[in-house]
Amino acid sequence: MPAQDRIQARPDSYLKELRADVRAGLTAWPKSLPPKYFYDERGSELFDQITRLPEYYPTRAETAILTQRAAEIAQLSACESLVELGSGTSAKTGLLLRALSSGGTLAEFMPFDVDPAVLADAMQMLAAQYPRLRIVPFTGDFERDLGAIPAAAGRRMIAFLGSTIGNLEPAARSGLYRQVAAALRPGDTFLLGTDLVKDPDRLRRAYNDSAGVTAEFNRNVLRVINRELGADFDVEEFEHVAVWDPVNEWMEMRLRSCRQQRVTITDLALTVSFAAGEQMRTEISAKFRRDGIRAELAAAGFRTQRFWTDPDGDFGLTLAELLRSDRARLRVPPRFGEAR
Ligand code: SAH
Ligand code: TRP
Repeated sequence: MPAQDRIQARPDSYLKELRADVRAGLTAWPKSLPPKYFYDERGSELFDQITRLPEYYPTRAETAILTQRAAEIAQLSACESLVELGSGTSAKTGLLLRALSSGGTLAEFMPFDVDPAVLADAMQMLAAQYPRLRIVPFTGDFERDLGAIPAAAGRRMIAFLGSTIGNLEPAARSGLYRQVAAALRPGDTFLLGTDLVKDPDRLRRAYNDSAGVTAEFNRNVLRVINRELGADFDVEEFEHVAVWDPVNEWMEMRLRSCRQQRVTITDLALTVSFAAGEQMRTEISAKFRRDGIRAELAAAGFRTQRFWTDPDGDFGLTLAELLRSDRARLRVPPRFGEAR
């Protein structure tokens, strides 16, 4: 990939942030680790395997929706620029790219991901399949770097698939929606994939598969910390746990220490101990309801144009339009003391 075509937001910030996040997470009670560090080359490969597991229905369900609705999405969005957040392999995005290209409007595609390795692979695939499309990969953190996305000449759509939005807590989600809104102009669109609330047993199986791939994926965050920060996590002494939280309606992924143990993180000059059975949170995966999605988006100035599900009603795909900022502002009551 030619270097000048690759946009990298704050390239040296990853390690700095990893250090701060790991220190904060491991010295807190209960301990936790932020999820974006799952995704190094091995983590992205493991996630790709997850998408093909018999228990992991979200990828197939979202693919079914996109297969059926790609032409309609292309027509409604009429975008010339498509930005995909947390794009990974961009496997499902091909359905959109095909529909948008055959309509003739799409000129550029910007896959945006925290893992440069998965972007490089995706880039190779896409360049071969869409030789006339301008593909501009972007390495960055979607919680922080959306402001660095260059403005589009024409209409833009931002896609955020795979229910990755559910890996953020509600406050972080509204922050992200606002950043997405800031990267769009009124009339531009946001395409959001969300997994839906369903039978907890199916959810638990989707996040704790019988082949153990999800367990390996969860433990990968420890391998990343070992390698990047000179830590000595005994990865096999942590067990994958996936629990359904019925109050928050999210799956919670944890790593459970199999025994009492100490871990040293050399680069942080930090030693932490784990009690036998102690659980550390590594990820949440929120499950949504139709009205909740609509309300979250409306609060950030988006009007839901379409909401589709797959035939089994497992997964939701929302196409929303950014309202004019004056209309958007009307929906958000002024805060106390704020000028009208
Ligand atoms: N969109 C794909 C991949 C989903 S997995 C699909 O639907 O199958 C989540 C993706 O988001 C991974 O590729 C991961 O590297 C990326 N990701 C996770 N946290 C991120 C962050 N903070 N900023 C940017 N990308 C992130
Ligand atoms: N975005 C995916 C999801 O929430 C990420 C994911 C799938 C995941 N399986 C996981 C994260 C297991 C942590 C552990 O469905």
